[in-house]
Amino acid sequence: MSDAAPEPETDIVGDREGIPFVGAGPGDPGLLTVRGRALLERADLVVHAGSLVNSELLDAFCDHAEQVNSVGKDLEELVPLMRDAHEEGRTVVRLHSGDPAIYGAALEQMDALESEGVPTYFVSGVTAAFAASATLDTQLTLNEVANHVAFTRPQGKTLGPEEDHISEFVEMGDVTTCIYLGTHAVRETMDRLLEDGADPDTPVAVVYHASWPDEDVIRGTVADIADAVEEAGYRASALVVIGEAVTGGGYERSYLYGDWASGGSEDEATDDGATPTTEDMT
Ligand SMILES: C[S@@+](CC[C@H](N)C(=O)[O-])C[C@H]1O[C@@H](n2cnc3c(N)ncnc32)[C@H](O)[C@@H]1O
Repeated sequence: MSDAAPEPETDIVGDREGIPFVGAGPGDPGLLTVRGRALLERADLVVHAGSLVNSELLDAFCDHAEQVNSVGKDLEELVPLMRDAHEEGRTVVRLHSGDPAIYGAALEQMDALESEGVPTYFVSGVTAAFAASATLDTQLTLNEVANHVAFTRPQGKTLGPEEDHISEFVEMGDVTTCIYLGTHAVRETMDRLLEDGADPDTPVAVVYHASWPDEDVIRGTVADIADAVEEAGYRASALVVIGEAVTGGGYERSYLYGDWASGGSEDEATDDGATPTTEDMT
């Protein structure tokens, strides 16, 4: 019998060629996808996103691999590093926090690699907003409370004031607004909301390090959350969630477990809010 670790099944790692851009999830190694884990376990080089990727996850799944922290490195350094390793026949994984499709700047790296002849592809992860909703024991969409979710960030170096739509999302009333990259700017964001006429009692939660061992939740309102966040001292690594869904209350029962389940009319909703089709009912 051989001591070698069994090769992961092709249907778990997938059949794509090239460098996978893998979502590490929000922090808890248990929230990495099965495919992400299998890819990390066979990697020779893992280029990871630094402090938002839990070192426990790196220790657990890619201790054997060369690990490079991408923080502070520009594309001119990262792209040749990954390209050369790939061309030498090494197995490379680019590991982003959460899901690489959300505020990950993945595509510019992928395009640069593709233009050098290196194929790339995405492997989804659990984004911080989903971890935060689990921490808050709520849904981001909630029947009769929140019909939409906005993933957004506050104005700053990257986003001009005219591109900051937080007040518009909050004004809509039935949107759960999830603010990434905004922990340092909670007071400015809440001040702007108040200036723009938001209800001061609108619920807000700030979820620091969702799913990490030191996870923390600060609950409040548009009027008072900034004081509480400043008192706690958080300046980074938290998700700001605004809207009635934060409380998990005030919702109406969906149709799913009512008449429809026992053969009610066809225009009633499924648990994902869509009109059921014959397929939904199987
Ligand atoms: C550069 S963005 C990356 C987001 C990541 N791609 C995702 O899908 O979660 C970093 C921001 O995500 C949020 N974030 C990431 N992980 C988090 C966590 N575990 N708990 C709370 N917020 C988190 C914070 O707002 C942080 O400033």
